[in-house]
Amino acid sequence: MQKLLLKNIKNLLSVYENAPQKLSGKEMGQLPCIENAWLACEKGLIADYGSMDDFPGITDWKGLEVIDCAGKIVMPGFVDSHTHIVYAGNREQEFVDRIKGLSYEEIFKRGGGILNSVEKLRNASEDELFEQSKERLKEIISQGTVAVEIKSGYGLNVESELKMLRVIRRLKDLEWIPVKATFLGAHAVPSEYKDNKKGYIDLIIKEMLPAIEKEQLAQYIDVFCEKNYFDAEETRSILEAGKKHGLIPRAHVEQLSHSNGIKTAVACGAISVDHLEFCSDADIELLKNSATMPTVLPGAAFFLNLPLPPARKMIDAGLPVAFASDYNPGSSPSGNMKLMMSMACIQYKLTPEEAINAVTLNTAYAMGLQNELGTITIGKKASLIITKEINSFGALPYAFGSDLIDKVILNGKVWK
Ligand code: NIG
Ligand code: FE
Repeated sequence: MQKLLLKNIKNLLSVYENAPQKLSGKEMGQLPCIENAWLACEKGLIADYGSMDDFPGITDWKGLEVIDCAGKIVMPGFVDSHTHIVYAGNREQEFVDRIKGLSYEEIFKRGGGILNSVEKLRNASEDELFEQSKERLKEIISQGTVAVEIKSGYGLNVESELKMLRVIRRLKDLEWIPVKATFLGAHAVPSEYKDNKKGYIDLIIKEMLPAIEKEQLAQYIDVFCEKNYFDAEETRSILEAGKKHGLIPRAHVEQLSHSNGIKTAVACGAISVDHLEFCSDADIELLKNSATMPTVLPGAAFFLNLPLPPARKMIDAGLPVAFASDYNPGSSPSGNMKLMMSMACIQYKLTPEEAINAVTLNTAYAMGLQNELGTITIGKKASLIITKEINSFGALPYAFGSDLIDKVILNGKVWK
Protein backbone atom coordinates (compact mmCIF):
# COMPACT_ATOMS: atom_id res chain seq x y z
CA MET A 1 0.00 0.00 0.00
CA GLN A 2 1.32 3.39 -1.05
CA LYS A 3 2.11 5.66 1.88
CA LEU A 4 3.72 9.07 1.92
CA LEU A 5 5.34 10.90 4.79
CA LEU A 6 6.29 14.57 4.63
CA LYS A 7 8.66 15.55 7.40
CA ASN A 8 10.50 18.65 8.65
CA ILE A 9 7.83 20.86 7.07
CA LYS A 10 8.70 24.48 7.82
CA ASN A 11 5.01 25.45 7.96
CA LEU A 12 1.95 23.26 7.49
CA LEU A 13 -0.86 25.65 6.53
CA SER A 14 -4.59 25.63 6.99
CA VAL A 15 -4.73 22.86 9.58
CA TYR A 16 -8.14 22.09 11.06
CA GLU A 17 -9.32 19.22 13.24
CA ASN A 18 -12.87 20.15 12.20
CA ALA A 19 -12.73 22.17 9.02
CA PRO A 20 -15.27 24.92 8.35
CA GLN A 21 -17.35 24.72 5.16
CA LYS A 22 -16.12 28.14 4.02
CA LEU A 23 -14.53 31.24 5.54
CA SER A 24 -16.34 34.58 5.67
CA GLY A 25 -15.44 38.14 6.67
CA LYS A 26 -12.81 38.32 9.43
CA GLU A 27 -12.44 34.51 9.44
CA MET A 28 -10.81 34.82 6.03
CA GLY A 29 -7.77 36.27 7.80
CA GLN A 30 -7.19 33.09 9.80
CA LEU A 31 -4.71 30.47 8.66
CA PRO A 32 -4.05 27.92 11.41
CA CYS A 33 -0.56 26.57 10.97
CA ILE A 34 1.88 24.10 12.54
CA GLU A 35 5.56 25.00 12.50
CA ASN A 36 8.15 22.26 11.97
CA ALA A 37 5.51 19.66 11.15
CA TRP A 38 5.03 16.19 9.70
CA LEU A 39 2.14 14.91 7.62
CA ALA A 40 1.27 11.29 6.79
CA CYS A 41 -0.83 10.23 3.78
CA GLU A 42 -2.40 6.82 3.34
CA LYS A 43 -4.78 5.46 0.71
CA GLY A 44 -4.73 8.87 -0.96
CA LEU A 45 -5.99 10.66 2.13
CA ILE A 46 -4.49 12.77 4.90
CA ALA A 47 -4.00 10.20 7.67
CA ASP A 48 -2.31 12.19 10.43
CA TYR A 49 -0.09 15.18 11.16
CA GLY A 50 1.64 16.90 14.02
CA SER A 51 4.69 18.76 15.24
CA MET A 52 8.15 17.20 14.64
CA ASP A 53 8.69 17.60 18.39
CA ASP A 54 6.08 14.88 18.88
CA PHE A 55 6.92 12.81 15.79
CA PRO A 56 6.13 9.19 16.68
CA GLY A 57 8.85 7.78 14.34
CA ILE A 58 8.44 5.25 11.56
CA THR A 59 7.52 1.73 12.54
CA ASP A 60 6.51 0.32 9.16
CA TRP A 61 8.72 1.22 6.17
CA LYS A 62 6.84 -1.03 3.73
CA GLY A 63 5.62 0.95 0.72
CA LEU A 64 6.58 4.21 2.42
CA GLU A 65 7.97 7.21 0.55
CA VAL A 66 9.49 9.94 2.68
CA ILE A 67 9.99 13.53 1.51
CA ASP A 68 12.14 15.90 3.54
CA CYS A 69 10.41 19.29 3.40
CA ALA A 70 13.03 21.30 5.33
CA GLY A 71 12.62 25.02 4.57
CA LYS A 72 9.45 24.32 2.59
CA ILE A 73 5.80 25.07 3.17
CA VAL A 74 3.03 22.52 2.68
CA MET A 75 -0.52 23.67 1.99
CA PRO A 76 -3.76 22.39 0.44
CA GLY A 77 -3.62 22.44 -3.36
CA PHE A 78 -5.48 25.12 -5.28
CA VAL A 79 -9.10 24.48 -6.24
CA ASP A 80 -10.12 26.30 -9.42
CA SER A 81 -13.90 26.67 -9.41
CA HIS A 82 -14.31 28.51 -12.75
CA THR A 83 -12.62 27.60 -16.04
CA HIS A 84 -13.33 27.13 -19.72
CA ILE A 85 -10.27 24.98 -20.53
CA VAL A 86 -12.01 22.96 -23.23
CA TYR A 87 -11.56 25.15 -26.31
CA ALA A 88 -9.95 24.95 -29.73
CA GLY A 89 -7.08 27.13 -30.93
CA ASN A 90 -6.61 30.59 -29.43
CA ARG A 91 -7.73 34.22 -29.77
CA GLU A 92 -4.34 35.88 -30.14
CA GLN A 93 -5.55 37.99 -33.06
CA GLU A 94 -8.29 39.53 -30.88
CA PHE A 95 -5.68 40.24 -28.22
CA VAL A 96 -3.85 42.40 -30.77
CA ASP A 97 -7.14 43.98 -31.92
CA ARG A 98 -7.82 45.01 -28.34
CA ILE A 99 -4.31 46.43 -27.93
CA LYS A 100 -5.05 48.54 -31.00
CA GLY A 101 -8.21 49.94 -29.43
CA LEU A 102 -11.21 47.65 -30.00
CA SER A 103 -13.17 46.67 -26.88
CA TYR A 104 -14.21 43.13 -25.89
CA GLU A 105 -17.83 44.11 -26.62
CA GLU A 106 -16.97 45.61 -30.03
CA ILE A 107 -15.15 42.42 -31.00
CA PHE A 108 -18.21 40.36 -29.98
CA LYS A 109 -20.56 42.59 -31.98
CA ARG A 110 -18.40 41.97 -35.09
CA GLY A 111 -19.01 38.22 -34.64
CA GLY A 112 -15.74 37.56 -32.80
CA GLY A 113 -15.17 36.87 -29.12
CA ILE A 114 -17.07 33.85 -27.84
CA LEU A 115 -18.46 33.28 -31.37
CA ASN A 116 -14.92 33.07 -32.75
CA SER A 117 -14.23 30.21 -30.31
CA VAL A 118 -17.55 28.62 -31.27
CA GLU A 119 -16.52 28.44 -34.90
CA LYS A 120 -13.14 26.93 -34.02
CA LEU A 121 -14.69 24.40 -31.64
CA ARG A 122 -17.36 23.27 -34.07
CA ASN A 123 -14.61 22.55 -36.61
CA ALA A 124 -12.49 20.51 -34.19
CA SER A 125 -13.00 16.78 -33.67
CA GLU A 126 -13.69 15.44 -30.19
CA ASP A 127 -10.24 13.82 -30.13
CA GLU A 128 -8.45 17.02 -31.17
CA LEU A 129 -10.33 18.95 -28.52
CA PHE A 130 -9.51 16.34 -25.90
CA GLU A 131 -5.78 16.44 -26.72
CA GLN A 132 -5.61 20.25 -26.56
CA SER A 133 -7.59 20.37 -23.32
CA LYS A 134 -5.54 17.58 -21.74
CA GLU A 135 -2.41 19.71 -22.18
CA ARG A 136 -4.11 22.59 -20.36
CA LEU A 137 -5.17 20.26 -17.57
CA LYS A 138 -1.56 19.07 -17.21
CA GLU A 139 -0.38 22.67 -17.17
CA ILE A 140 -2.69 23.75 -14.35
CA ILE A 141 -1.93 20.68 -12.24
CA SER A 142 1.79 21.43 -12.46
CA GLN A 143 0.91 24.95 -11.25
CA GLY A 144 -0.75 23.50 -8.14
CA THR A 145 -4.40 23.04 -9.09
CA VAL A 146 -5.85 19.86 -7.57
CA ALA A 147 -9.53 20.16 -8.63
CA VAL A 148 -11.18 22.05 -11.46
CA GLU A 149 -14.61 23.10 -12.72
CA ILE A 150 -14.87 23.19 -16.52
CA LYS A 151 -17.67 24.75 -18.57
CA SER A 152 -19.15 24.05 -21.95
CA GLY A 153 -20.38 27.08 -23.91
CA TYR A 154 -18.31 27.18 -27.10
CA GLY A 155 -20.55 24.69 -28.94
CA LEU A 156 -23.92 26.45 -28.81
CA ASN A 157 -25.72 23.70 -30.72
CA VAL A 158 -26.79 20.30 -29.48
CA GLU A 159 -24.01 18.34 -31.17
CA SER A 160 -21.14 20.63 -30.19
CA GLU A 161 -22.27 21.28 -26.61
CA LEU A 162 -22.46 17.50 -26.12
CA LYS A 163 -19.01 17.16 -27.74
CA MET A 164 -17.56 19.64 -25.23
CA LEU A 165 -19.23 17.95 -22.27
CA ARG A 166 -17.99 14.54 -23.44
CA VAL A 167 -14.46 15.94 -23.57
CA ILE A 168 -14.90 17.22 -20.00
CA ARG A 169 -16.04 13.72 -19.03
CA ARG A 170 -12.92 12.22 -20.65
CA LEU A 171 -10.74 14.65 -18.68
CA LYS A 172 -12.54 13.55 -15.52
CA ASP A 173 -12.08 9.88 -16.45
CA LEU A 174 -8.30 10.37 -16.57
CA GLU A 175 -8.71 10.49 -12.76
CA TRP A 176 -5.85 12.96 -12.40
CA ILE A 177 -7.90 15.41 -10.32
CA PRO A 178 -11.61 15.88 -9.53
CA VAL A 179 -13.35 17.57 -12.46
CA LYS A 180 -16.87 19.04 -12.30
CA ALA A 181 -18.75 19.87 -15.49
CA THR A 182 -20.93 22.91 -16.03
CA PHE A 183 -23.38 23.28 -18.92
CA LEU A 184 -23.08 26.83 -20.29
CA GLY A 185 -25.25 26.62 -23.40
CA ALA A 186 -26.37 30.16 -22.51
CA HIS A 187 -22.89 31.63 -23.04
CA ALA A 188 -23.97 33.62 -26.12
CA VAL A 189 -26.60 33.44 -28.85
CA PRO A 190 -25.04 31.63 -31.84
CA SER A 191 -25.11 33.47 -35.18
CA GLU A 192 -27.71 31.13 -36.72
CA TYR A 193 -30.16 32.30 -34.00
CA LYS A 194 -29.10 35.96 -34.21
CA ASP A 195 -32.66 37.13 -34.85
CA ASN A 196 -34.36 34.41 -32.83
CA LYS A 197 -33.02 34.37 -29.29
CA LYS A 198 -36.24 32.83 -28.02
CA GLY A 199 -35.69 29.92 -30.42
CA TYR A 200 -32.19 29.40 -29.05
CA ILE A 201 -33.41 29.43 -25.43
CA ASP A 202 -36.03 26.85 -26.45
CA LEU A 203 -33.27 24.72 -27.95
CA ILE A 204 -31.34 24.89 -24.66
CA ILE A 205 -34.37 24.01 -22.56
CA LYS A 206 -36.10 21.48 -24.79
CA GLU A 207 -33.21 19.70 -26.48
CA MET A 208 -29.87 20.32 -24.82
CA LEU A 209 -30.94 19.86 -21.19
CA PRO A 210 -32.73 16.51 -21.72
CA ALA A 211 -29.78 15.18 -23.76
CA ILE A 212 -27.33 16.23 -21.04
CA GLU A 213 -29.43 14.62 -18.34
CA LYS A 214 -29.69 11.42 -20.35
CA GLU A 215 -25.88 11.05 -20.53
CA GLN A 216 -25.37 12.56 -17.04
CA LEU A 217 -22.82 14.95 -18.52
CA ALA A 218 -23.01 17.90 -16.12
CA GLN A 219 -23.41 18.83 -12.46
CA TYR A 220 -24.01 22.58 -12.88
CA ILE A 221 -25.87 25.00 -15.14
CA ASP A 222 -24.45 28.45 -15.89
CA VAL A 223 -25.67 31.53 -17.81
CA PHE A 224 -23.80 34.64 -18.97
CA CYS A 225 -26.24 37.25 -17.62
CA GLU A 226 -25.22 40.39 -19.51
CA LYS A 227 -26.44 43.01 -21.98
CA ASN A 228 -26.31 41.53 -25.52
CA TYR A 229 -26.16 38.00 -24.05
CA PHE A 230 -28.98 36.88 -21.66
CA ASP A 231 -31.04 39.25 -19.50
CA ALA A 232 -32.15 38.58 -15.92
CA GLU A 233 -35.49 37.02 -16.87
CA GLU A 234 -33.89 34.75 -19.49
CA THR A 235 -31.22 33.81 -16.96
CA ARG A 236 -33.88 32.89 -14.43
CA SER A 237 -35.80 30.70 -16.86
CA ILE A 238 -32.66 28.85 -18.01
CA LEU A 239 -31.34 28.28 -14.47
CA GLU A 240 -34.77 27.06 -13.32
CA ALA A 241 -35.00 24.71 -16.31
CA GLY A 242 -31.53 23.34 -15.46
CA LYS A 243 -32.66 22.64 -11.90
CA LYS A 244 -35.50 20.50 -13.25
CA HIS A 245 -32.82 18.35 -14.91
CA GLY A 246 -30.85 17.98 -11.68
CA LEU A 247 -28.29 20.73 -12.33
CA ILE A 248 -27.17 23.20 -9.66
CA PRO A 249 -27.14 26.87 -10.77
CA ARG A 250 -24.10 29.16 -10.92
CA ALA A 251 -23.72 32.24 -13.12
CA HIS A 252 -21.54 34.82 -14.86
CA VAL A 253 -22.89 38.10 -13.48
CA GLU A 254 -22.31 41.86 -13.44
CA GLN A 255 -19.11 41.58 -15.51
CA LEU A 256 -19.52 44.31 -18.14
CA SER A 257 -22.59 46.09 -16.74
CA HIS A 258 -25.08 45.81 -13.88
CA SER A 259 -27.71 43.39 -15.18
CA ASN A 260 -29.40 42.13 -11.98
CA GLY A 261 -27.54 38.85 -12.35
CA ILE A 262 -26.65 38.50 -8.67
CA LYS A 263 -30.25 39.08 -7.60
CA THR A 264 -31.50 36.53 -10.11
CA ALA A 265 -28.88 33.86 -9.41
CA VAL A 266 -29.20 34.17 -5.63
CA ALA A 267 -32.99 33.82 -5.94
CA CYS A 268 -32.42 30.63 -7.97
CA GLY A 269 -30.14 29.27 -5.21
CA ALA A 270 -26.87 29.54 -7.13
CA ILE A 271 -23.85 27.94 -5.45
CA SER A 272 -21.63 30.70 -6.84
CA VAL A 273 -21.88 34.06 -8.66
CA ASP A 274 -18.80 34.96 -10.64
CA HIS A 275 -17.05 38.10 -12.04
CA LEU A 276 -18.88 40.88 -10.03
CA GLU A 277 -17.18 43.96 -11.55
CA PHE A 278 -20.48 45.90 -11.38
CA CYS A 279 -21.69 44.43 -8.06
CA SER A 280 -23.64 47.09 -6.08
CA ASP A 281 -24.04 47.71 -2.34
CA ALA A 282 -27.57 46.28 -2.59
CA ASP A 283 -26.09 43.11 -4.13
CA ILE A 284 -23.69 42.80 -1.18
CA GLU A 285 -26.71 42.93 1.15
CA LEU A 286 -28.46 40.23 -0.88
CA LEU A 287 -25.39 38.00 -0.78
CA LYS A 288 -25.20 38.34 3.02
CA ASN A 289 -28.48 36.48 3.32
CA SER A 290 -27.52 33.68 0.98
CA ALA A 291 -25.36 30.55 0.79
CA THR A 292 -23.98 31.74 -2.58
CA MET A 293 -20.20 32.15 -2.90
CA PRO A 294 -19.16 35.46 -4.52
CA THR A 295 -16.27 34.61 -6.83
CA VAL A 296 -13.83 37.10 -8.30
CA LEU A 297 -12.00 36.23 -11.54
CA PRO A 298 -9.00 38.57 -11.42
CA GLY A 299 -7.44 37.23 -14.61
CA ALA A 300 -10.43 38.41 -16.68
CA ALA A 301 -10.65 41.83 -15.02
CA PHE A 302 -6.89 42.26 -15.61
CA PHE A 303 -6.84 41.00 -19.19
CA LEU A 304 -9.87 43.11 -20.22
CA ASN A 305 -8.89 46.16 -18.12
CA LEU A 306 -12.24 46.10 -16.30
CA PRO A 307 -13.05 47.94 -13.08
CA LEU A 308 -12.09 45.84 -10.04
CA PRO A 309 -14.85 43.88 -8.28
CA PRO A 310 -15.31 45.09 -4.66
CA ALA A 311 -13.68 42.06 -3.00
CA ARG A 312 -12.29 44.00 -0.02
CA LYS A 313 -15.63 45.65 0.61
CA MET A 314 -17.34 42.25 0.51
CA ILE A 315 -14.97 40.72 3.05
CA ASP A 316 -15.31 43.79 5.28
CA ALA A 317 -19.09 43.37 5.04
CA GLY A 318 -18.70 39.83 6.43
CA LEU A 319 -19.00 37.91 3.16
CA PRO A 320 -16.89 34.97 1.99
CA VAL A 321 -14.99 35.58 -1.26
CA ALA A 322 -13.42 33.04 -3.62
CA PHE A 323 -10.87 33.73 -6.37
CA ALA A 324 -10.76 31.49 -9.47
CA SER A 325 -8.87 31.70 -12.77
CA ASP A 326 -11.59 31.76 -15.48
CA TYR A 327 -8.92 30.15 -17.73
CA ASN A 328 -10.33 30.72 -21.26
CA PRO A 329 -9.03 31.93 -24.64
CA GLY A 330 -10.85 35.28 -24.70
CA SER A 331 -10.69 36.96 -21.31
CA SER A 332 -8.19 35.06 -19.15
CA PRO A 333 -5.64 32.88 -20.96
CA SER A 334 -4.08 31.71 -17.69
CA GLY A 335 -5.03 29.10 -15.13
CA ASN A 336 -2.20 29.99 -12.78
CA MET A 337 -3.87 30.18 -9.37
CA LYS A 338 -0.70 31.44 -7.68
CA LEU A 339 -0.85 34.44 -10.01
CA MET A 340 -4.56 34.90 -9.16
CA MET A 341 -3.50 35.00 -5.51
CA SER A 342 -0.96 37.73 -6.29
CA MET A 343 -3.64 39.78 -8.01
CA ALA A 344 -5.95 39.21 -5.01
CA CYS A 345 -3.30 40.79 -2.77
CA ILE A 346 -1.90 43.47 -5.06
CA GLN A 347 -5.04 44.73 -6.77
CA TYR A 348 -7.82 43.73 -4.37
CA LYS A 349 -5.98 44.28 -1.05
CA LEU A 350 -6.49 40.81 0.39
CA THR A 351 -3.86 39.74 2.88
CA PRO A 352 -1.85 36.61 1.96
CA GLU A 353 -3.92 34.63 4.50
CA GLU A 354 -7.17 35.80 2.90
CA ALA A 355 -5.84 35.09 -0.59
CA ILE A 356 -4.84 31.53 0.34
CA ASN A 357 -8.31 30.86 1.77
CA ALA A 358 -9.90 32.42 -1.33
CA VAL A 359 -8.16 29.96 -3.70
CA THR A 360 -8.50 26.82 -1.57
CA LEU A 361 -11.39 26.34 0.88
CA ASN A 362 -13.73 28.97 -0.58
CA THR A 363 -13.30 27.76 -4.16
CA ALA A 364 -13.75 24.19 -2.89
CA TYR A 365 -17.09 25.32 -1.43
CA ALA A 366 -18.00 26.90 -4.78
CA MET A 367 -17.77 23.47 -6.39
CA GLY A 368 -19.13 21.36 -3.55
CA LEU A 369 -15.75 19.88 -2.61
CA GLN A 370 -15.29 21.52 0.79
CA ASN A 371 -15.50 18.19 2.60
CA GLU A 372 -12.78 16.65 0.40
CA LEU A 373 -10.32 19.47 -0.26
CA GLY A 374 -9.34 22.98 0.79
CA THR A 375 -7.79 22.38 4.23
CA ILE A 376 -5.33 20.05 5.95
CA THR A 377 -7.79 17.83 7.79
CA ILE A 378 -7.63 14.11 8.53
CA GLY A 379 -9.74 12.21 5.99
CA LYS A 380 -9.54 14.85 3.25
CA LYS A 381 -7.75 14.06 0.01
CA ALA A 382 -3.95 14.27 0.25
CA SER A 383 -3.77 16.72 -2.68
CA LEU A 384 -1.17 19.23 -1.67
CA ILE A 385 1.42 21.76 -2.69
CA ILE A 386 5.00 21.57 -1.42
CA THR A 387 6.70 24.91 -2.05
CA LYS A 388 10.35 25.52 -2.81
CA GLU A 389 12.40 26.81 0.13
CA ILE A 390 10.78 30.16 0.94
CA ASN A 391 10.85 32.68 3.74
CA SER A 392 7.13 32.61 4.52
CA PHE A 393 3.80 31.83 2.82
CA GLY A 394 3.61 35.53 1.94
CA ALA A 395 6.27 34.84 -0.71
CA LEU A 396 3.66 33.03 -2.80
CA PRO A 397 1.61 36.14 -3.72
CA TYR A 398 4.63 38.47 -3.28
CA ALA A 399 6.93 36.89 -5.88
CA PHE A 400 4.20 37.06 -8.49
CA GLY A 401 6.25 35.81 -11.43
CA SER A 402 8.28 33.10 -9.71
CA ASP A 403 7.45 29.41 -9.82
CA LEU A 404 7.72 28.61 -6.13
CA ILE A 405 5.98 25.24 -6.35
CA ASP A 406 8.43 22.41 -5.87
CA LYS A 407 6.01 19.48 -5.82
CA VAL A 408 2.33 18.82 -6.37
CA ILE A 409 0.91 15.81 -4.51
CA LEU A 410 -2.30 14.27 -5.85
CA ASN A 411 -4.10 11.71 -3.69
CA GLY A 412 -0.93 11.02 -1.75
CA LYS A 413 1.27 10.53 -4.85
CA VAL A 414 3.90 12.87 -6.26
CA TRP A 415 2.67 14.36 -9.57
CA LYS A 416 5.42 16.86 -10.26
O1 NIG B 1 -15.84 34.21 -18.11
N1 NIG B 1 -17.85 36.32 -19.61
C1 NIG B 1 -18.13 35.37 -20.32
N2 NIG B 1 -17.43 34.30 -20.57
C2 NIG B 1 -16.02 34.16 -20.41
C3 NIG B 1 -15.26 34.66 -21.58
C4 NIG B 1 -15.36 33.76 -22.66
C5 NIG B 1 -14.62 34.19 -23.88
O2 NIG B 1 -14.37 35.39 -24.15
O3 NIG B 1 -14.31 33.25 -24.60
C6 NIG B 1 -15.55 34.79 -19.14
O4 NIG B 1 -14.91 35.85 -19.12
FE1 FE C 1 -16.08 32.45 -17.34
